[in-house]
Amino acid sequence: MQIFLDTANLEEIRVAARWGILSGVTTNPTLLARERGAGFEETIKEIAGLVDGPISAETVSEDADGMVAEGVEYAGWHSNVIVKAPSTPAGLEAVSRLREKGIRCNVTLVFNANQALFAALAGAFVVSPFLGRLDDISHDGMDLIREIAAVFEMNPEIETRILAASIRHPRHVVESALAGAHIATCPFNVLEQSMAHPLTDRGIRSFLADWESRKA
Ligand code: G3P
Repeated sequence: MQIFLDTANLEEIRVAARWGILSGVTTNPTLLARERGAGFEETIKEIAGLVDGPISAETVSEDADGMVAEGVEYAGWHSNVIVKAPSTPAGLEAVSRLREKGIRCNVTLVFNANQALFAALAGAFVVSPFLGRLDDISHDGMDLIREIAAVFEMNPEIETRILAASIRHPRHVVESALAGAHIATCPFNVLEQSMAHPLTDRGIRSFLADWESRKA
């Protein structure tokens, strides 16, 4: 299981990169809009300078020609750029055409296993099932990861990776690993929460107090 950061915030990326756990970054138009004043191309290039791994940059056209044109442009920014296209018929066509050009794609907004399978058949490098958004509407997002993993496993010709997205809390990370996801893309607060445990804090306080007591 690899950990990606789901953000366009450069400071969050710098911190997580220092921890030595970061294998890539995913962005989307919402995350980029939060970083007011930062240009899209400039931000993606800066991220690529901080993390040596796949960096997802999302298309915003609704037709295949537009997505392909955007994808070709994004891929020219850095060799680690992965073009994000939505799980729609136009997105499939764009992924198929971009793959022919040697450009890797992340099919996003995946909410059922059919979408994941079709994305894989079109040549997606990764598919992004959205766990949290399914949980939000009272569906079990983890069931979707399990189903996609089972379908991919039964079809060994599929090389597409499963990227668990819309992660809301640390249990989503470990459960998606157990369910067969290859990557979890996490908001920064989930990375912080993942390392927080009251027994760790209590243990540190107790060790430090005992260490000090030996001087008394
Ligand atoms: O970047 C895709 C996905 O991770 C977004 O998650 O929290 O907006 O549902 P969220």
